[in-house]
Amino acid sequence: MNKMLTVEDLTISFRTDEGVITPVQKVSFEVEAGKTLGLVGESGSGKSVSTKALMRLLPGSAVLDRASRMRYRAKDGREIDIENVRSTRALRRLRGGEIGMIFQEPMASFSPVYSIGNQMMEAIRLHRGLRGRAARALAIEMLDKVGISNPTARIDQFPHEMSGGMRQRAMIALALSAGPNLLIADEPTTALDVTIQAQVLDLMRSLQDELGMGMIFITHDLGVIAQIADEIAVMYLGTIVEKGPTREVIRNPMHPYTVGLLEAIPSLDRLEARLKPVPGDIPSPSERPSGCAFHPRCIQAVSGLCDVQAPPERAPRAGRAVSCWLHAEEGRTAA
Ligand SMILES: Nc1ncnc2c1ncn2[C@@H]1O[C@H](COP(=O)(O)OP(=O)(O)O)[C@@H](O)[C@H]1O
Ligand SMILES: [Mg+2]
Repeated sequence: MNKMLTVEDLTISFRTDEGVITPVQKVSFEVEAGKTLGLVGESGSGKSVSTKALMRLLPGSAVLDRASRMRYRAKDGREIDIENVRSTRALRRLRGGEIGMIFQEPMASFSPVYSIGNQMMEAIRLHRGLRGRAARALAIEMLDKVGISNPTARIDQFPHEMSGGMRQRAMIALALSAGPNLLIADEPTTALDVTIQAQVLDLMRSLQDELGMGMIFITHDLGVIAQIADEIAVMYLGTIVEKGPTREVIRNPMHPYTVGLLEAIPSLDRLEARLKPVPGDIPSPSERPSGCAFHPRCIQAVSGLCDVQAPPERAPRAGRAVSCWLHAEEGRTAA
């Protein structure tokens, strides 16, 4: 195993007007070099907050629990404890140059007042030390790589001059131009129609192969994860309820929430069905249910147990983990 990122017991709270909420609780996962971890769960489960912590992009109201560990292996082989990075210089290097991020909304990555090329060349200057003609050539190469036709002309366009799908590609090119080792893709295809979504997924897969980056791919759609991730971590209300190799988790889901998410993937024989993953709504972190947080929505919940005590995390097989009373007797306590 060749881990480039090890997250252990990541716990994040926010001070709010209504008191302290903890939308991420003891989250642990790993990313192997050159592989993709798919982080899946309904909106509000804490996916974005968890990954923002990796870029140290949480707002001032956020509090990281002291047990939280984010160990990252940088391009030069050094181990970085992300939670302890202090200097502006080190933070700047971490963001973009080591860990890149792309979002659902490309306009969040771009400034409206500079051309695409200007912004890419700035990232290239900052993270790769290239200027002028060399920087421009690399930016054009990146635009070409992400499938933007006529990149020598397009490089001088402004973000608003591009179509949605094109802007999405340009955002990927911008993130890649800094040469990240790890790319966090936060629902990058959610706003796109199905055809373009498939193209962008293809693109990201081939870029990853070519560049050997690690990736964390976030989505609420297990169908998308199935196409791109090597490993899956399923998140519910701030905790990871199940994780393992993609194929295994999809063939043999163990947590009732994973089962629900899988059943919600539209299949060819029920194209119209964009089912709600699981009946009911995900509660707010300020109203976390007792015991297993999923129990109020779980058809298999055992009263007197699931509503009282949180299930232990078990590792029924190497590489798999599940937190559910249905599987509490299987395998070993997860590490
Ligand atoms: N700055 C913040 N202040 C307070 N609560 C926040 C803040 N950012 C996110 N949250 C809360 O954290 C929870 C998880 O959010 P998020 O990570 O965005 O979920 P996801 O990405 O899985 O949809 C949500 O309940 C959200 O309201
Ligand atoms: Mg999100």
